[in-house]
Amino acid sequence: MKNIRTQLKRFQYFYPYTVALVGASVGGQVNFMSCAWHTALSFDPPLFGVLVSRKRFSHGIISKAREFTVNFLSFERVKLSAQMGRKSGHDLDKVKEFKLRLARSKVIQSPIVEEAYVSFECRLAEVRAYGDHDLFVGEVLAVHEEPGCFNAEGILNPGKVRPLLYLGSDFYLTVDQDTLKHVLPD
Ligand SMILES: Cc1cc2nc3c(=O)[nH]c(=O)nc-3n(C[C@H](O)[C@H](O)[C@H](O)COP(=O)(O)O)c2cc1C
Repeated sequence: MKNIRTQLKRFQYFYPYTVALVGASVGGQVNFMSCAWHTALSFDPPLFGVLVSRKRFSHGIISKAREFTVNFLSFERVKLSAQMGRKSGHDLDKVKEFKLRLARSKVIQSPIVEEAYVSFECRLAEVRAYGDHDLFVGEVLAVHEEPGCFNAEGILNPGKVRPLLYLGSDFYLTVDQDTLKHVLPD
């Protein structure tokens, strides 16, 4: 019988997942990493979780800053995802190297990523270890959205923004807006 870890490969059967850049600034250092393992956890209060391996440079930055921003990328920014997800702040200043454009947050000190079509400002509420990753739970204090990307109900407009979807390894794709359906139960 195959070892379960080998069989799971890299735990990617349930992909595609949207890609966010997650990061923070503290003591003059700023760092972001690509993150696919993220999820909403609660509506009231608004809690959002990101899973970050303890090996990541971002792990230390977010732990020290006790806040982070989550910045969702469109398909056009695919190169940025590869750069922020395949290079580490342990080795280089990614913000400088890849000319990441940052903007001031409304509530927290850490910046948001200008290239994102939607960003969350989060204050760290809890950190919990799950095996080789830590779940950083943030209370969402502010949201920034690019005009026109969402309708009044907060539904993404695929005619305006094509979300970046990750398939694992170094593969990406996006949605086909022609498949959009509004479906009611009867
Ligand atoms: C698209 C993509 C998604 C990723 N998702 C995660 C994730 O959810 N959690 C994680 O710990 N690493 C994830 N990684 C790996 C980190 O982004 C990668 O190790 C990065 O170099 C870490 O940067 P840092 O050391 O500067 O924090 C992902 C990589 C890619 C390319």
